[in-house]
Amino acid sequence: MELTDWKNLPFGYIKTDYNIRCYYRHGNWGELEISSDDHLNIHMAATCLHYGQQAFEGMKAFMGKDGKIRLFRWQENARRMTRSAEGIFMAPFPEDLFKKAIEKAVLLNRHFVPPHGTGAALYIRPLLIGTGAEVGVKPANEYMFVVFVTPVGPYFKEGFNPVRIAIEKDSDRAAPLGTGHLKVGGNYAASLRGIMKVVKAGYSSPMYLDAKEKRYIDEIGAANFFGIKNNTYITPRSDSILPSITNKSVMTLAEDMGLRVECRPVEVEELESFEEAGACGTAAIIAPIGEVHDLETGKTIIYGKDGKPGPVSTSIYKKLTGIQFGDIEDKFGWMEIIG
Ligand code: PLP
Ligand code: COI
Repeated sequence: MELTDWKNLPFGYIKTDYNIRCYYRHGNWGELEISSDDHLNIHMAATCLHYGQQAFEGMKAFMGKDGKIRLFRWQENARRMTRSAEGIFMAPFPEDLFKKAIEKAVLLNRHFVPPHGTGAALYIRPLLIGTGAEVGVKPANEYMFVVFVTPVGPYFKEGFNPVRIAIEKDSDRAAPLGTGHLKVGGNYAASLRGIMKVVKAGYSSPMYLDAKEKRYIDEIGAANFFGIKNNTYITPRSDSILPSITNKSVMTLAEDMGLRVECRPVEVEELESFEEAGACGTAAIIAPIGEVHDLETGKTIIYGKDGKPGPVSTSIYKKLTGIQFGDIEDKFGWMEIIG
């Protein structure tokens, strides 16, 4: 694809010039290394390949009107990667090195940062994998950290337009005492059954319910869920969802806009009472939900009568992206200019 067509970028992989790597051997992390190869050479018995010792992150760099590149709340991603690593017994990647690595990856590929005004951003994908060879089920003694970047548009092809969601009851992405709160590959493998089912039926993403009772809303594929009613921003509290940095930020913005914020178990039954609903995440940004369909009962809930995003979701979207692209004052100190 032409790299001038920034406004129509898909959410996919486009090769950039450099990626950054770092190796953990004999109990220590080494120096950051720059590579222009987009393949990895790893042992066939590496634990990431057999036993899912793998964690990743998703974050973005944004181009401001001033031509400066900004990172959004990178410390939160660094901490979450540490929690993911510890959760599946991998060597955590030091947070100062994490910052240096992502900064290097972005700046070495700066001509891939989409221009201001296109709505696109440079997606940053840090990855931590067990590379030590094991055959028994145990943590590796060698690890590799890699970070690559790729320019992306919004995750849902609809962009900031209502998406259609289907409730998934035939599979679970995460168990109550499992790894749903960590950003580890196994959760995404488990989510593929639900995703493929609902995509085939014409929906953008599944809505996962709590695995135990199928009574509460967990999340929307690779994004958190929110509902709006009575001047209140409501988002599920659950041990099996990924604590979204976007959602955490939106809760702060909502409060600042004068909304009440509730983070609590949200019953599926409550869906009908929302005035607006949406999904949020780094990749999804803010995706307004136009419809939630229950494939089992055939019941459909529609949000908004005119097929447009609701007013509260629109304000949240504008505030969040305004801060990220440097168009609105960053009063919470979320952005860091790196070059
Ligand atoms: N939930 C899941 C399962 C995700 O993969 C993501 C993406 O990272 C999110 C929610 C949103 O989290 P964040 O806003 O930190 O990107
Ligand atoms: C993100 O929002 O960064 C994600 O990681 C979503 C994704 C798995 C595509």
